[in-house]
Amino acid sequence: ARKAVLGPLVGAVDQGTSSTRFLVFNSKTAELLSHHQVEIKQEFPREGWVEQDPKEILQSVYECIEKTCEKLRELNIDISNIKAIGVSNQRETTVVWDKFTGEPLYNAVVWLDLRTQSTVENLSKRIPGNNNFVKSKTGLPLSTYFSAVKLRWILDNVRKVQKAVEEGRALFGTIDSWLIWSLTGGAKGGVHCTDVTNASRTMLFNIHSLEWDKELCDFFEIPMAILPNVRSSSEIYGLMKAGALEGVPISGCLGDQSAALVGQMCFQDGQAKNTYGTGCFLLCNTGHKCVFSEHGLLTTVAYKLGRDKPVYYALEGSVAIAGAVIRWLRDNLGIISTSEEIEKLAKEAGTSYGCYFVPAFSGLYAPYWEPSARGIICGLTQFTNKCHIAFAALEAVCFQTREILDAMNRDCGIPLSHLQVDGGMTSNKILMQLQADILYIPVVKPSMPETTALGAAMAAGAAEGVGVWSLEPEDLSAVTMERFEPQINAEESEIRYSTWKKAVMKSVGWVT
Ligand code: G3P
Repeated sequence: ARKAVLGPLVGAVDQGTSSTRFLVFNSKTAELLSHHQVEIKQEFPREGWVEQDPKEILQSVYECIEKTCEKLRELNIDISNIKAIGVSNQRETTVVWDKFTGEPLYNAVVWLDLRTQSTVENLSKRIPGNNNFVKSKTGLPLSTYFSAVKLRWILDNVRKVQKAVEEGRALFGTIDSWLIWSLTGGAKGGVHCTDVTNASRTMLFNIHSLEWDKELCDFFEIPMAILPNVRSSSEIYGLMKAGALEGVPISGCLGDQSAALVGQMCFQDGQAKNTYGTGCFLLCNTGHKCVFSEHGLLTTVAYKLGRDKPVYYALEGSVAIAGAVIRWLRDNLGIISTSEEIEKLAKEAGTSYGCYFVPAFSGLYAPYWEPSARGIICGLTQFTNKCHIAFAALEAVCFQTREILDAMNRDCGIPLSHLQVDGGMTSNKILMQLQADILYIPVVKPSMPETTALGAAMAAGAAEGVGVWSLEPEDLSAVTMERFEPQINAEESEIRYSTWKKAVMKSVGWVT
């Protein structure tokens, strides 16, 4: 049995695209004390469609909380030491539910879903004024990625939702809103809110005024009554209404990429992190300024850690497919039976042997924003085997990161001297070394890769009325860093990168 833990504890829900986790940290050291993880199903009802069941997501959160609490009890840790809970989540994924029954009115339409391609094309023909209308207010390009078009599609196509809107029963939310509303009581008084970071991914939120934008809602024909209240990322939203942690305040909420930025302590202008999850997202803190990219990056709200605290913005390079390519190799091709096996295969190959894999399953996001792209594997010979394909899949994640790092360096003017990374895939040492080789700068990863959850826990623990986390570096004393230095020569790195770009060009224009 473990000795009593000094210091208050903070829990965090990390609801990602592939799995849900609940983690509990010691607020004095950031030591991860226990966690539980559950994989989430993804449904592909038609080509290009990606859905999830909101109830399965909610259930997985409860299951993770209960299991983590059991594990803590086994460690002799008193769960009444958990003083707050933070929520971080996959962003943009869109849910509509009935506020009287608590039932979802349609499956969650996941951020990767492409069904709104024609909605986007039609909308782009009638953008008012100049083409900058959406981008100047939201920092985002008009794309299938963001919630507004998903919600538009649901309103146009799901009779149950139309009826619920007419009858004043419908609520809209991204996953954070759905979870917080449900966990704080649901139909019996649940709090319908979101935070500024999640709101900034809907394409309905004005990132300058930090409010829902009436002109945008009119443009997308979204009834404002169904939108959640927008709050800061760190304040008490409500109390847990059921389960082992009943009564504990939920006091942190951040989209997962913002949460990772906080968890990596990227609080200064120019500090950046890259998180390898289902997708891969590089965010660079730009301080209080909204910097607009000229190289295909997004402008987004980084965080606002308290009602009266200032807002911070970030430039973001979003890559749709990173960990998802490993899951595809496992579930669709069956060449590995667990995600971890990819490292063994890639190690065996040691090279892709001229094979390049562009996993543009959902088109290409940053810096191309090319919905016409589809995945390709090229450069195959009779010598190519599954190990080379595994290696090429890992390389693809690294090349895509290189593309966004280049764009980031051009937009910011000052090149990053090293890259801070986190996320589940960073435990793959081959991937980390490849990343350093392809970027040609050192890659630095924390010993505890769950930075997203840590960021949400920090926001929750720092909230007014909770006050158990100071956000000072000494509170992260349990986290140490590992560094990967480039090991190939710069010329080789450039040759590989330029061949990758050739492969990307072949993937573009696949669908018309
Ligand atoms: O924007 C989508 C992003 O939030 C998804 O994150 O961790 O599920 O890849 P993840």
